[in-house]
Amino acid sequence: MKDVNQYTLTEAVKESFRTEDGSRLKFLLETFIDHLHDYTRETGLTHEEWIGVLNFLYDCGKISTPERHEFILLSDVLGFSALVDMINTRGGATEGSNLGPFYLDDAPAMELGADLSGGRSGAMVLVHGIVRDTLGNPLPGAMVDTWQADGSGTYPIQEQEQGQDKYDLRAKFTTDANGRYYYTTVLPKPYTVPYDGPVGRLLRAGNRHSWRAAHLHYIIRAPGMRAITTEVFFENTEYIDNDAVFGVRKSLIAKVEPVKKTDALDYQLSAKPDAKFRFDFVLAPEG
Ligand SMILES: [Fe+2]
Repeated sequence: MKDVNQYTLTEAVKESFRTEDGSRLKFLLETFIDHLHDYTRETGLTHEEWIGVLNFLYDCGKISTPERHEFILLSDVLGFSALVDMINTRGGATEGSNLGPFYLDDAPAMELGADLSGGRSGAMVLVHGIVRDTLGNPLPGAMVDTWQADGSGTYPIQEQEQGQDKYDLRAKFTTDANGRYYYTTVLPKPYTVPYDGPVGRLLRAGNRHSWRAAHLHYIIRAPGMRAITTEVFFENTEYIDNDAVFGVRKSLIAKVEPVKKTDALDYQLSAKPDAKFRFDFVLAPEG
């Protein structure tokens, strides 16, 4: 029998896995075991703390449903999601940010110039810009897939029991021959991440709030280009400096400006905006 102690255990556990030499799985698994064991030795973790961690993870699983993924929320509040986004952003491309829990991949396709607000209250804003590649060339035919909260910080998908349509405030637009996209919608408000589960307990234990800065979600795709998942935030809005999930990047903050009567808007719009902002997306080639 092989004798192990707290110093030889880590290698023994790693050796027990018969993963292929040089494989990504072997690398990820062994590095994880190294860090997990180092953490345990370094903190002198007690039995109570150890079972506390495992029960916390158990609670995360127990409260999760197809509509609520508590582990993603945990990843978000620990900055893990933000770090994965950061290290996977390609040079020159728009920075990535949180996918969040409310994405639906079958949002309705809409014509450019459409209005997403559905008559909801709040500031009507013209959202426009160009999708480009990293060399600055416009990308016609790119897909701009967007979803958002309303003017009170709620996603319609959260209020289906109150009669809301889960496909409201979301759409897929295709950029025109000049790579342009444009539409009107209601400006979203901040909202809190779910606070009634184990992750909420963690935030309270750390004296942290659960508010997200107001944002619009986007996935941008174009043939031959690496898709990006990101969010657009707004200058001088609440929680912009302390978003609960660390989603804000300086490059993702847009400046919302009033639309003046004299402004010539170059677009055919189906609703009249009170304000506007421009945000250009940049995609890097695949590979
Ligand atoms: Fe969101």
